[in-house]
Amino acid sequence: MIKVLGICASPRNGNSKYLLEEALSSAKQVGQDWGCKVETEYYSIRGKKIGGCIACDYCQTKGVCVLKDDFEELAEKFMEADVVIYSIPVYHMGMPAQLKAFIDRLGNSMYGRCKRYYPNVQLKFAPRGMRTIACITQGLHAFSGQEHTMTQIMNHAMLMGSLYITGDKWQSYIGAGGWTSNDASRDALEKQMREGLYDAEILLNCTRTTARRAVETAIILHNGAKACLKNMEREIVYTPLLERIKARKGE
Ligand SMILES: Cc1cc2nc3c(=O)[nH]c(=O)nc-3n(C[C@H](O)[C@H](O)[C@H](O)COP(=O)(O)O)c2cc1C
Repeated sequence: MIKVLGICASPRNGNSKYLLEEALSSAKQVGQDWGCKVETEYYSIRGKKIGGCIACDYCQTKGVCVLKDDFEELAEKFMEADVVIYSIPVYHMGMPAQLKAFIDRLGNSMYGRCKRYYPNVQLKFAPRGMRTIACITQGLHAFSGQEHTMTQIMNHAMLMGSLYITGDKWQSYIGAGGWTSNDASRDALEKQMREGLYDAEILLNCTRTTARRAVETAIILHNGAKACLKNMEREIVYTPLLERIKARKGE
């Protein structure tokens, strides 16, 4: 079974939500096509409080963040996921502050968190998450921060020991990026799709292929791991993937 977590980084129900729902339905379809159970979850930062890291290092020994807000709930979901798909509105040519705060705190807590999750494993550093991570991002304008945002998520994937996945060429180069053609309304992309606007259609295609390939790659990773189990068990860096596979036995 593959668990897909979709994280909507917009504080409103709008274009990011619309695209993420499309991505999750595309992810689900892989389950049918590849004969593998795929479970999807939609999570929105809308209405959530996720403050910035205060660099106290509490998480590095305790494995949880000292700040009491909505961060831990999402961090737990991230740890359980095999696939993480971010849907991000471009803010100031990058990602919204709430998502940046989540990523900073997740990254900083990873070593302590893994020690808490896998108490019987002698970790020297944070092991590889071996998730697939994908990014959908859109803004009001073209060339207005989409690539920067995707690059930030690409770097995040790297730091999480995970694989950054893109959709199909030529539409998707470094993820699913698009624009609302200068329409600031929440349903801009949905409207544009109904009207058959070319740029919106491309973005939707990218969104669907990016999600699809992220799930397919996760299935390939899981089956590859099962084939290499003996060797992987000797390398503690692979603990997160092996533990996720173990936890899903019989599901
Ligand atoms: C604080 C803020 C900053 C923004 N900065 C940018 C930007 O740098 N580039 C851009 O293209 N759009 C920018 N936008 C516009 C949003 O990315 C755009 O309206 C997007 O469609 C919103 O997605 P949503 O409907 O999912 O909230 C900004 C919007 C806000 C509220």
